[in-house]
Amino acid sequence: MFAAGCRELQAGSLCSPENHMTTRWTRKDLLGLRELSAEEINFVLETADAFKQVGTREIKKVPALRGKTLVNFFVEPSTRTRTSFELAAFRLSADVINISATTSSLTKGETLKDTARNLEALHADILVLRHSSAGAPQFLANRLKASVINAGDGAHEHPTQALLDLYTIREHRGKIAGLHVAIIGDILFSRVARSNIFGLLKLGARVTLVGPSTLVPREFEKLGVEVSYKIDDVLPKADVVNLLRIQHERQRREYFPGLGEYIRLFGLTKERAKLLKPDCLIMHPGPINRGVEIDSEVADGLQSVILDQVTNGLAVRMAVLYLCGGIAA
Ligand code: CP
Repeated sequence: MFAAGCRELQAGSLCSPENHMTTRWTRKDLLGLRELSAEEINFVLETADAFKQVGTREIKKVPALRGKTLVNFFVEPSTRTRTSFELAAFRLSADVINISATTSSLTKGETLKDTARNLEALHADILVLRHSSAGAPQFLANRLKASVINAGDGAHEHPTQALLDLYTIREHRGKIAGLHVAIIGDILFSRVARSNIFGLLKLGARVTLVGPSTLVPREFEKLGVEVSYKIDDVLPKADVVNLLRIQHERQRREYFPGLGEYIRLFGLTKERAKLLKPDCLIMHPGPINRGVEIDSEVADGLQSVILDQVTNGLAVRMAVLYLCGGIAA
């Protein structure tokens, strides 16, 4: 089946002996970027190149996952991630079932493990899981034969978001090594920030975290990043700025005096955007809180690649499903 998928892709790199996925990809699960090597990350990005090319054809479907069943199990809300995993699975010819917390028997007291084991008993091959608890995907991956793909677990990791961010940077700037990336906002509660930090550092970027000290503790420096509380000093030096929203749903107390204060000190306002280099990319994983972490016109401006991130998410998620689904087979 996967050989057929490769033939259909006709992308060369996927099937050539030196790049064969059995030697370059051995994981049934994608749980985070912390455990991936630079080689593995680059292999996902290369595989995504092939799938992006497939997306330009008249017939955008390949048979790589024909006969497989993917369960999209989202215990937290999502627009982009859930939709693009669903579309990615359709494009790979998999059968897809969507389950949310409110429509599952989790509401009747069933445990996550029992729910997942029942899905596996129904021959689900791939489980895409978004959960509010850090470690939930790892917990299931250790117990299921099915592939488990982390679609965001608490404030821990959001690996496919970081992979699509890396893909978008590489697409626009031609490289990642040597670039200076500023991640701005609520870092403490952000799974996107963590996955981006691991991925960017592994691929040789310089990373500066910016935000209120309560949301960007100096503890992060131990990961190999820089920390700054002065956004106006960082913006002129950045090649990429990635804005993150305030994750009110994860915060148990107030971390700054109010939104007005936050915008004044850390918002990418129209005035502040003038400090950026002309070729600096403006990124945001979404959902955007327009007028808070980023001005609405700046979010839609010429330097913004926010919708390219969403488009690239489809190719990246096709690559992840193709690679992990192939190992679980
Ligand atoms: N970026 C992201 O994870 O968006 P969703 O919450 O809409 O999936």
